[in-house]
Amino acid sequence: MDHGHMTDSETDETLSALPQTGEREVETTLRPRKLDEFVGQPRVREQLQLVLESARRRGVPPDHVLLSGPPGLGKTSLAMIVAAELDATIRITSGPALERAGDLAAMLSNLAEGDVLFIDEIHRIARPAEEMLYLAMEDFRVDVVVGKGPGATSIPLEIAPFTLVGATTRSGALTGPLRDRFGFTGQMEFYSDDELDLVVRRAAAILGIEIDAEGCVEIAGRSRGTPRIANRLLRRVRDYAEVRADGTVDREIARAALAVYDVDELGLDRLDRAVLTALCRSFGGGPVGVTTLAVAVGEEPGTVEEVCEPYLVRAGMLARTPRGRVATPSAWEHLGLTAPAGYGSGMGQPGPTLFDQQAFDQ
Ligand SMILES: Nc1ncnc2c1ncn2[C@@H]1O[C@H](COP(=O)(O)OP(=O)(O)OP(=O)(O)O)[C@@H](O)[C@H]1O
Ligand SMILES: [Mg+2]
Repeated sequence: MDHGHMTDSETDETLSALPQTGEREVETTLRPRKLDEFVGQPRVREQLQLVLESARRRGVPPDHVLLSGPPGLGKTSLAMIVAAELDATIRITSGPALERAGDLAAMLSNLAEGDVLFIDEIHRIARPAEEMLYLAMEDFRVDVVVGKGPGATSIPLEIAPFTLVGATTRSGALTGPLRDRFGFTGQMEFYSDDELDLVVRRAAAILGIEIDAEGCVEIAGRSRGTPRIANRLLRRVRDYAEVRADGTVDREIARAALAVYDVDELGLDRLDRAVLTALCRSFGGGPVGVTTLAVAVGEEPGTVEEVCEPYLVRAGMLARTPRGRVATPSAWEHLGLTAPAGYGSGMGQPGPTLFDQQAFDQ
């Protein structure tokens, strides 16, 4: 396969797990509203169901919930579902918006009993606001500091019992004290092809797109385990079907459309490919440390580690070994590159165990 022209911006956008400009609106239309409508994540769904049901029976707001996982897997959707399942009002803010503790104090003091406060990107919350949040989560209280200098006094302020739902793509970046204050953490996983198939069917039904079973399978398999991407690819395939055919999507149409958008069979995005290419081209396939690898692709190590690597590991392209990151033979093959002779066995480690994902996945 020719990947030489895959760095143009159109491709980046089509495959990125991050939401694109103007996409929020259609995402709202496609968001599942209730827990039964939420496809996949059976473990998180069951756990959350128990947390919510038990709180409902006891007549108290449920414990604070943290949802963590890569972009586009449904954290925001689940946060809204938590509120919907509780028949509660949801207040939405985000870590970067809570720059000063006063911003958070205002938000907290306006909560009514049983409200859900959703803080997206909670790992990006400023330190003073975070410290205020500790007390609020634990004792439903905030200390508001009035005045400055030696004359400053702190006035305790009661706040209504509420449930905090935090979402993060980087749970590793959360401080221990904050993480400990959540009663439940839902770790979102990439979706299987079968689950994505259901996501595509559901979205097609909502958007009124005619698509057959094979068309769904074709899109699901190239969606990088991510519902946001599945929904986006479906819309791009629909465009193609409407302009170049009679609007109905089957396997041929889906394949032709995805070829136009340079979506490869695994649906790897720009950063995925950049990481693999650097790993193979610049570091001979590794092992190389994640920081060095991140510098090579001009990204934050945290982003490479928590947004990009999980999918590459799951796709069998990259291994995290005690000595660093290693490209698997399938990575070389996928990039259309030739691994050095004896690759994977001549590196001072026995070949098979070097690529044994299970052994190194924590
Ligand atoms: N389980 C699901 N079933 C059906 N559709 C889903 C599911 N999860 C996500 N989606 C779809 O994917 C889109 C993105 O989901 P969402 O915004 O909840 O992801 P996120 O994890 O909050 O992403 P980010 O980290 O970028 O904030 C939604 O519009 C929704 O339509
Ligand atoms: Mg979100």
